[in-house]
Amino acid sequence: MYVPEQVVTNDDLAKLMNTSDEWITERTGIKERRFFKEGVDTVSGMGARAAEQALQRAGKTPQDVDFIVFATLSSDYNFPGSGVLLQRTLPFRQIGALDVRAQCSGFIYGLSVADQYIKTGMYKTILVVGSEVQSNVFELSDRGRNMSVIFGDGAGAVVLEATDEPGKGILHTVLHSDGHFAEELYLEHPGSRRKQRFSPDMIEKGELLPYMNGKQVFMNAVKYFPEVIREALAVCNLTEADIDLLIPHQANARITAAIQKELNLPDEKVVSNIHKYGNTTAASIPIALCEAWEEGRVHDNDLICMAAFGSGFMWASALVRW
Ligand code: ACO
Repeated sequence: MYVPEQVVTNDDLAKLMNTSDEWITERTGIKERRFFKEGVDTVSGMGARAAEQALQRAGKTPQDVDFIVFATLSSDYNFPGSGVLLQRTLPFRQIGALDVRAQCSGFIYGLSVADQYIKTGMYKTILVVGSEVQSNVFELSDRGRNMSVIFGDGAGAVVLEATDEPGKGILHTVLHSDGHFAEELYLEHPGSRRKQRFSPDMIEKGELLPYMNGKQVFMNAVKYFPEVIREALAVCNLTEADIDLLIPHQANARITAAIQKELNLPDEKVVSNIHKYGNTTAASIPIALCEAWEEGRVHDNDLICMAAFGSGFMWASALVRW
């Protein structure tokens, strides 16, 4: 994982807008987040830092990687995607690089794509990255406070490799979407629907800011998170009691608490680090996985469950036998 150096606390934000540590902590569980530094951190660059660490820990070099899957909603450029920018940052071969646009579910969608390539035998070693710079899309003002206090910047990565060990690895992934909710959590501009992608008055009108219907997101998240986890467990003939570690997308501590309660999991089986990083969208699961691994919470043969819900709406789960 890699997170930018700059720590931004709730009190720092309260100096810029009408909010408070108390409001943010109570509603989201977030205490601080990281903000990128222009000229130092980029989505592809942070992804590369995380990838270097993942490769080193896996005992691999960039030359060993057959394919890159890069999940982000905040690509360095509108096009091309950040996957190719990562490809040129480290000494990879001229391998394929696929950007995945599935927002908060991006890492699990990416994992699922990589899993299929490995299971069909097309590739042996795949790098899956989630990386986001979000601090510059929100307005640090009263107008932008409902979203700007929630999100942060950072990156995480994993190396997936084919294995012959029976029962090991990614057991199953489940992917869902319902585009009827697309406009409940979205950023319309600069999109291709209008003849003029930008106009000067868009900034003034706040049209370049993302929109979130917080209540809709909350209601659907607490419904679909447990549902998609149970769906994956059922396919594998497993139950909630078999989960050794749940790594949910770090959307909001209250959403995580609701899932934990619904699935009847004790604290030690649920990873939550949103207080340190806020919601880092596609990066949140690999960052949480990395920290859990570093803290000795991931053991050989453990059943790791990852799950996400977010913009789209899209939601997904993955079961991994470590
Ligand atoms: N600080 C202080 N006050 C604020 C802030 C802020 N940062 N943001 C909004 N408010 C105000 C509102 O203006 C409103 O004021 P009003 O009553 O005078 O109109 C008041 O607080 C309550 O606003 P609500 O939107 O009703 O607040 P709510 O209690 O619903 O909490 C929240 C908002 C935290 C977004 C909640 O709806 C929620 O948890 N939703 C889930 C969304 C979420 O977690 N998204 C994560 C990202 S998406 C994803 O990853 C899936």
